Amino acid sequence: MENTKHFFTKNLMAWFATNHRPMPWKGEKNPYLIWLSEIILQQTRVEQGLPYFLKFKENYPTVTDLANAPEDEVMRMWQGLGYYSRARNLHFTAKHIAYDLNGVFPKTYVEILKLKGVGTYTAAAIASFAYDLPNAVVDGNVYRVLARYFGIETPIDSTIGKKEFTKLAYELLDNKRPADYNQAIMDFGATQCKPKKPNCINCPLNQKCIGFNTQKIDTLPSKTKKIKKRERFFHYLLINKENSVYLQKRVEKDIWQNLYQFPMLETDKMTDFIELQQQDFWQKTVGELTLNQPIISKTYKQILTHQKIWATFYEVKITSKLENELVRKEGYVLVPKIDLNKFGFPKIIDLFLKEKTLSLKLF
Ligand code: ADE
Repeated sequence: MENTKHFFTKNLMAWFATNHRPMPWKGEKNPYLIWLSEIILQQTRVEQGLPYFLKFKENYPTVTDLANAPEDEVMRMWQGLGYYSRARNLHFTAKHIAYDLNGVFPKTYVEILKLKGVGTYTAAAIASFAYDLPNAVVDGNVYRVLARYFGIETPIDSTIGKKEFTKLAYELLDNKRPADYNQAIMDFGATQCKPKKPNCINCPLNQKCIGFNTQKIDTLPSKTKKIKKRERFFHYLLINKENSVYLQKRVEKDIWQNLYQFPMLETDKMTDFIELQQQDFWQKTVGELTLNQPIISKTYKQILTHQKIWATFYEVKITSKLENELVRKEGYVLVPKIDLNKFGFPKIIDLFLKEKTLSLKLF
């Protein structure tokens, strides 16, 4: 583990020596300007924040200039950046520093953290960039880089996760060069270990990166908050023909690829039988010859990682003309019911078959 941590810091710093992005706040030692840039960059991409930083710096070169500016003017200058409470806190804190602290920016991590609008991340950034204090930044970039490299599955939005990642971030910090280290991990997260399509192939850390070496890059970092699952509604048609039933192979690049199913109509919301009959697919597949009293199963549910599937089964009859057409066009295959157990079905169909809820005489 020590070896792995050492490798991380050493290679990250080497990467930074040749890859860092030149920006006007880099190498800056003035705590006011560092604070200003970090507040602007919260929840904002560098490209978007950069012109605002330059504008504020030009109009308010010192914290006292900012404090003396009318609030309306500050808010106007912030226009377009969003999250306007940041601008209000910025102005409030400028006045606090200018008037209560005699224009002297706080010099310790704990004192910096007391400023309104400054959280642990921003305090660590200011403390390290301005004063070379050994405080490690922990933000979304850092969570992502560490979760992937160390293969940590602890959710980053849990109290325990926050503690674990913060402890690790401090262990990894290059105490001799905290400013460079913090800037390095931020730049590395933003340009190399990006949320989507990270550049793993050309990464100086890939040799020991657990996420990369176990194919978990896409699932890390993990979160407790449930992602909203896509809901899909599958309507299966049981087209009986004497002792056989039609099946179809799922060939599309989708869930359950290469498994079998009954001919299926998909809707993206719960759809009742009346609405279902009006769907194009139903018209083409079942035609007008729908049973007055359709036999409809109960609705089954299956939860997948990113999707919630609802399935209902309908017993239908079709005309032979339509049947021939469908077999030709859709690749339906007629399978004797006694052979159904030879086919691979999605779990939800298996469940239905096992329950035999319909009076389908399937077996
Ligand atoms: N995002 C927030 N702070 C940053 C910084 N100092 N450099 C690059 N991106 C950042």
